Amino acid sequence: MGGSLYSSPVKRGRWRDADTHRDGWGVQTPTALPPDAPSVRYAATSPVTLRSTGEEISRRAVLTSASALALSACGPRDAQSQSVPADLPPLKTVAPFRVGACVQALHLDDPALSALLARQVGQLTPEWEMKMEYIVQPDGSFRFDAPDRIAAFARAHGMALLGHTLVWYAQSPPAFERLDESRIGFADAYRNYIHAVAGRYRGQAVGWDVVNEAVAEDGAGWRDSLWAQRLGAFDHIALAYRTAREADPQATLLLNDYNLEYMPKKRATFLKLAERLLASGAPLTGLGTQMHVAADIAPGKITTMIRELASLGLPIHVSELDVSLTRADNKLLSRGELQRRQTAVYAEAAEAFMALPPRQRFAFTLWGLRDRDSWLKKENASDAPAPFDDAGRPKAGAAALVEAFRA
Ligand code: XIL
Repeated sequence: MGGSLYSSPVKRGRWRDADTHRDGWGVQTPTALPPDAPSVRYAATSPVTLRSTGEEISRRAVLTSASALALSACGPRDAQSQSVPADLPPLKTVAPFRVGACVQALHLDDPALSALLARQVGQLTPEWEMKMEYIVQPDGSFRFDAPDRIAAFARAHGMALLGHTLVWYAQSPPAFERLDESRIGFADAYRNYIHAVAGRYRGQAVGWDVVNEAVAEDGAGWRDSLWAQRLGAFDHIALAYRTAREADPQATLLLNDYNLEYMPKKRATFLKLAERLLASGAPLTGLGTQMHVAADIAPGKITTMIRELASLGLPIHVSELDVSLTRADNKLLSRGELQRRQTAVYAEAAEAFMALPPRQRFAFTLWGLRDRDSWLKKENASDAPAPFDDAGRPKAGAAALVEAFRA
């Protein structure tokens, strides 16, 4: 059995004395950051120097767009016309860091997909079966069959496992909402959950998205959530990192969010939160940028975002990259033009990541290898956001990744 909110190994109330942290546990922090929020540099690493200057990166991005344009000008303007070498090497064999993909347990029943995963990537992120929605049952017990299956597949294929995600504002299971607090306090149940999940994969998980999407949608302050209401807007976040570190002394503990390339304000709040966690002594050791982007994103935005995130000196995870055709704002662009831009966006993302110092390249994860498996298909069946087509053949986006990764 996998334990429960009521019975996992946390010693009741232990955090109250032994883990007292400098921010003063229990003090409710406002959701908006104070104007004088500390601005610290991550002390454990030396100041970052990027391999390329911003100017060089954007010039390369423009050149890539130009070469994609030249390719698309050679034939009918659709993705298939963008040439993809027949002998394209697997992504994981050319990249000097881990390339990953998300996966669901049911994908492992599809031999074509599991073969494609094993050939192309060296790291797996469970797409949803390591979230509370799957693990926490109504009676507070835990269920680990699907995530264990994914973890076993990763082990069998020599792949790393990325834990996703321990705490997410979007999920507050009924077992937490209706917790029997005569049996266990809310904070102890929260810590029990983190101990049980992160502890189960200790030694295998290379990293955890400890808190997912902590910053408010508009970038002003932090999300409201059950966790924030019960444990404090800042304190529940800091407590999650401290508890994850107890459960797994080795894994990189990441803060993961989205729209960081589109919204400078949200990015600034994200970085301030990271700095504040570090200043409080919380063991934040990596930053994740989801990168659910659209094909018409302005060139340079991704490069700027990755460079700014890297300024704290922490390892960076491109954690959920996909490039939607149908989410593009510009409805005047033809599908062929969107496909061409999609290729350029994959190229820019890969080049910006390659420009990081090697020690800051945590991993580069695709949120779906094949178009047909993408979560965005549920939103719009005509989307095709992945680097491989429905049949698992590499699209021009995969070729752009390979080209950038082996540069
Ligand atoms: C999505 C999955 O892809 C879907 O299958 C699931 O139903 C909902 O979540 N940001 C995240 C991911 O951090 O966990 C989300 O994944 C996509 C957005």
